[in-house]
Amino acid sequence: MVDPTDAPATAPRTPPATPLTLAIDIGGTGLKALVLDAEGNAITDRARVETPRPATPDAMLPLIWDLVAPLGDFDRVSIGFPGVVVDGVIMTAPNLHKKWRGFELARVAAERLERPTRVLNDAGIQGYGVIEGIGVELVLTLGTGMGCALYHDGRYVPNLELAHLPYGNGKSYEDYVDNHALDKIGKKRWNKRVRKVVERILPVWNPRRLYLGGGNAKHISFELPPNVSITSNVAGLLGGIALWR
Ligand code: BGC
Repeated sequence: MVDPTDAPATAPRTPPATPLTLAIDIGGTGLKALVLDAEGNAITDRARVETPRPATPDAMLPLIWDLVAPLGDFDRVSIGFPGVVVDGVIMTAPNLHKKWRGFELARVAAERLERPTRVLNDAGIQGYGVIEGIGVELVLTLGTGMGCALYHDGRYVPNLELAHLPYGNGKSYEDYVDNHALDKIGKKRWNKRVRKVVERILPVWNPRRLYLGGGNAKHISFELPPNVSITSNVAGLLGGIALWR
């Protein structure tokens, strides 16, 4: 029998593999953050706070700094942003506020957090967390807005904004299946719409795989074509290390 007094009080912990990445997901509904180890495993809980309205940089940035402060140390920062991002600068933010236009988010965050920072479209990061890296893969995220990301052999093709393609009746794809639409028309009709969007997109982009993610993907109840799958929403943060490959 083992003498319990010989056993260590706690099992020795292996330190997480470095470098550590602080992954931040800026969303139209929530701001989320966690720290990932070098293999992309989360080493902290996911912190979350509601997105303030109006969602201006001045209102949001202090909340983001407060959100990440308790998460401990990290070596670099990846930020997913819900709009077009070029070289760390925000070009559009349809579900936030027009004051984001031209905002140098990568520079400002790097200065504030004192770590190198990269910023990418939110769907682009989400996709990095789920793709296989083979051939053409497409990701659609269904949340506050509709995100879209295209990859070829694992390389992201930036800022494909299918969300803002006209769908008909003066509406865009995003208007048709976003969170407002879901609230307004209910799950049954929303599912029909999502199915139509998938049916329109597949023969145009011909992806080897299409992934449906985002907070509302859990409401999908129709039978998916064989090359289409639903992914976890956590991927929005887990893709954060791919920006540093
Ligand atoms: C934006 C996209 C974003 C998506 C999901 C859309 O309105 O144009 O860039 O990925 O919302 O947040």
